[in-house]
Amino acid sequence: MTDQTNNRVPSSASKERVVIFDTTLRDGEQSPGATMTHAEKLEIAGLLDEMGVDIIEAGFPIASEGDFRAVSEIAKNSKNAVICGLARANIKDIDRCWEAVKGAAQPRIHTFIGTSPLHRAIPNLDMDQMAERIHETVTHARNLCDNVQWSPMDATRTEWDYLCRTIEIAIKAGASTINIPDTVGYTAPVESADLIRRLIATVPGADEVIFATHCHNDLGMATANALAAVAGGARQIECTINGLGERAGNTALEEVVMALKVRGDIMPYATGIDTTKIMNISRRVATVSGFPVQFNKAIVGKNAFAHESGIHQDGMLKNAETFEIMRPSDVGLAETNIVMGKHSGRAALRSKLHDLGYDLADNQLKDVFVRFKELADRKKEVYDEDLIALVNVGIDGE
Ligand code: KIV
Ligand code: ZN
Repeated sequence: MTDQTNNRVPSSASKERVVIFDTTLRDGEQSPGATMTHAEKLEIAGLLDEMGVDIIEAGFPIASEGDFRAVSEIAKNSKNAVICGLARANIKDIDRCWEAVKGAAQPRIHTFIGTSPLHRAIPNLDMDQMAERIHETVTHARNLCDNVQWSPMDATRTEWDYLCRTIEIAIKAGASTINIPDTVGYTAPVESADLIRRLIATVPGADEVIFATHCHNDLGMATANALAAVAGGARQIECTINGLGERAGNTALEEVVMALKVRGDIMPYATGIDTTKIMNISRRVATVSGFPVQFNKAIVGKNAFAHESGIHQDGMLKNAETFEIMRPSDVGLAETNIVMGKHSGRAALRSKLHDLGYDLADNQLKDVFVRFKELADRKKEVYDEDLIALVNVGIDGE
């Protein structure tokens, strides 16, 4: 955009970098029904790499032979991104994960265990036993790989003291990234910022690692929570294309990246993402996962850059910044979509007809406008062909 934001946005050089960790191929693919084929996973990984994602979580290698093969091949093909695999807190999972990612130029093992009371009950470990397990598994992962990420699953419902204790153990055992998952999308933005801030201030060794935020969208707050976590000191955002993920999904990559780009005045953080690649990858993920994008989805929805009402269309024709805070081209869309419907006004009709090659005199336009409104009352959207027919009938009838 022009000076609406430019005057206040610090240049990228002066912004602190936030790492974008994409988990479309792991957490995203875990949503029921979103399974992708081997070839589709490789294609999406290639697009993620090309668009500048820093870390691709390519899968959960122990989960199936197919996941293992996909992660291994993505690891070998990746040009720029770190390739990460997920492993539960046991030696077998971690070994399998390492086998899959070790062919990458920059491999990462991501290991996790549920630390909240509800999650501790599942493996039936008491606090001390779990602490011991964390020490043992992170140490093992670190002996295999220089780059280890550790997550206390359901961190946002874990007792404060225990959360600090487990994170300290993971850092001492060699984890260089500590991810704080809001596994069930329970937290709220003020808490999200506060939690990261307090962890960094409290846990010994916290200033030597990167804190990551991993939010789910059960209450529709995943993007807000991720950005709040960054304000609190997190420097890695975990996200997926289109917010794909279990239940209500994960933080949407396109939302956090565009929020940081558009509102750099209050969130001065840079990412390495080429935002002009967003629309294409969004469409590919929707197609291969079989999860269509809702029409009014922020950034990538069909209506995100569409205008139907007369006031909005008139404003847009005079100055696009009246009703758009980003340019469509910023996300890889050719142009704003002026949708002709019953709320459209005469200025939009004139402009649309001009684009279609018809420059009508005022009296002709008046006549077409009356018939356009009649048609628009019967039809949700009036397409270019409808407009051409309206004009031609008018001309023929004269
Ligand atoms: O939501 C979650 O807790 C996860 C972990 C495996 C990081 O996806
Ligand atoms: Zn998750």
